[in-house]
Amino acid sequence: MKQDMIAVIDLGSTRNTDVARAIRALGVYSEICNYDITAQELLALPNVRGIVANGGPNDEVDGVKIRLSDEIKAAGLPVYTFDYEENGAVNAMPEEDADIAEALREFVFDVCKAQPNWNMENFIADQVELMRRQVGDKKVLLALSGGVDSSVVAALLLKAVGSQLTCVHVNHGLLRKGEPEQVVRVFKDEMNANLIYVDATDRFLDKLAGVADPEKKRKIIGAEFIRVFEEEARKLDGIEFLAQGTIYPDIVESGTKTAKMVKSHHNVGGLPEDLQFELVEPLKMLFKDEVRACGKALGLPDNMVYRQPFPGPGLGVRCLGAITRDRLEALRESDAILREEFAKNGLEGKVWQYFTVVPDFKSVGVRDNARCFDWPVIIRAVNTVDAMTAEVPELPWAVLQTITKRILAEVPTINRVCFDLSPKPTATIEWE
Ligand code: XMP
Repeated sequence: MKQDMIAVIDLGSTRNTDVARAIRALGVYSEICNYDITAQELLALPNVRGIVANGGPNDEVDGVKIRLSDEIKAAGLPVYTFDYEENGAVNAMPEEDADIAEALREFVFDVCKAQPNWNMENFIADQVELMRRQVGDKKVLLALSGGVDSSVVAALLLKAVGSQLTCVHVNHGLLRKGEPEQVVRVFKDEMNANLIYVDATDRFLDKLAGVADPEKKRKIIGAEFIRVFEEEARKLDGIEFLAQGTIYPDIVESGTKTAKMVKSHHNVGGLPEDLQFELVEPLKMLFKDEVRACGKALGLPDNMVYRQPFPGPGLGVRCLGAITRDRLEALRESDAILREEFAKNGLEGKVWQYFTVVPDFKSVGVRDNARCFDWPVIIRAVNTVDAMTAEVPELPWAVLQTITKRILAEVPTINRVCFDLSPKPTATIEWE
């Protein structure tokens, strides 16, 4: 293994992620470990050079105060005892953050003598070696959605085990314009992956016909997705591994042993019991920006690596109420125009998420001197840090006018364009 590591042992801190990120920002790899890690487990981590004993307010588990075990103290690794909250950084005072960064720097480099060798080249080399060791000459299956995480997993596995990987891309008919084509072009045509492309559009739209309740729609899409993927998996012989794009926040946000569970992590989505695979999760120690850097280093196109978040149910929750093909088409076309104009006008990467929504009611208009009765489209554009709250950014009027003109001219079933000014709360980012 090429990277040195500093282990951050969670002794009840709420800022484990911040400490791990601060160490990674110094160019040294860092992982968060549970408070009950044994000295043996700790010493088995590759190239561990030191420990940050990371205290904080959640330092009692089952009524017992947790502390660093004597066994670990005696393990011969340098220990830095730290309490982010006590150090005041919880108030995000810039000077104090700078002091903390300096203290960490001294510990990591002067005391632990760690090398700043955490970079994507080394990460990729290490993961390729680890995956080759794990998979051997066996076969691996991956559900490739075309999202950032699964795309980077695919690129990494192709580098590591090439033709032993089979990717399945399920098009549920609710993807954005050009997405399934891009997945096929990048992975099958350019990277030579074994890619099974399943156009399940009719199947999904049939199941969704007449279903107006947003949560029911989500459930149907999720369940059908698993079913289609399972059917494809059963057709393949001798697959022993399932690759997944689990990333570090999925694990950390599922709750460390001292923190309350924030949200459950459902990446391991409901495959039947008799389809048992061993998991390959090469991104599980990366934060989102690191996943993007990894994808970039592997040569994936920018619009795949830097793409805005897109919900699993896709356009299904933006075609409001019961989905119909005509409105879905209007949604897909208007969304493509919006994305194109955002890119042309330098807004891509500046606005966190932007898309169109088509409601399930019509409004009166005039077209070619005659009354028309067509669908409206709503533009949604938000900025956020964590998607829990969101603001609507000010957008150049001229860009909004161009988008409006183009949608009205190019999408024949739309006669009105609206702009959603609502922050979250009270509105959510999606309309359903
Ligand atoms: P809301 O609408 O809850 O959205 O403010 C917050 C973020 O989550 C995304 N989102 C979803 N992602 N499956 C997903 O994978 C879903 O069912 C889903 N619903 C919302 C949304 O796009 C936004 O980024």
